[in-house]
Amino acid sequence: MNLALMASGRGSNAAAILDAIDRHELDARPVALITNRENVGALDVAESHNVPGHAVPRRAFPSRTAQQQRMLELLQASGADFVALAGFDAILRPFIVAAYPNRILNIHPSLLPAFAGGMAPVPQTNALHAGVKITGCTVHVVTEELDAGPIVAQAAVPVRPNDTVDSLSDRILEQEHRLYPLALRWFADGSARVENGHVYIDSEESQALWPHPAP
Ligand code: GAR
Repeated sequence: MNLALMASGRGSNAAAILDAIDRHELDARPVALITNRENVGALDVAESHNVPGHAVPRRAFPSRTAQQQRMLELLQASGADFVALAGFDAILRPFIVAAYPNRILNIHPSLLPAFAGGMAPVPQTNALHAGVKITGCTVHVVTEELDAGPIVAQAAVPVRPNDTVDSLSDRILEQEHRLYPLALRWFADGSARVENGHVYIDSEESQALWPHPAP
């Protein structure tokens, strides 16, 4: 797997993925980190792992489409054959999704389809407001429909009575860092396949995921 990361913020999920690669827990070659913003932590994460980082800010392009055309050029020039969105806050244009069919994953800080849409901390805030007792995170395949692609893996996280958005987000993030490298591994080793809008994983590891000890 020649893996490209796309991120917009501090890049803790990008770091978790790159750390898993360094520890040989994920057999992938990180070929690029692309961000739609300048001066974000994700670029430092890329640099510290010797991964080429590319900032593609909106202001340098006449339109969002032109900006994403540049991103696609960078993806293709890097040799990427798989893409992980790791806190990427723009909606991918259909031409990028079509260039990597079933080859782009995203992580979202809720148990989809609950609390779809919006960037962190909106889904966590909405979960708190709804008063749910369990929330979590989801890794899913990216399709043209926002946060609605086939689900690869989920981790459940309890909502505690005194939780704030920050404390809940931290508890979810811990699970994100565990879940995302695992989900990528199933695509890297060929144990995941996407069929009729569902993901099937041919790995005992995926069965062992649930139930998992409450964090
Ligand atoms: C993560 O919580 C991720 O699930 C969320 O953004 C955060 C990025 O943190 N993604 C979304 O909200 C996608 N809609 P990071 O930059 O530290 O990885």
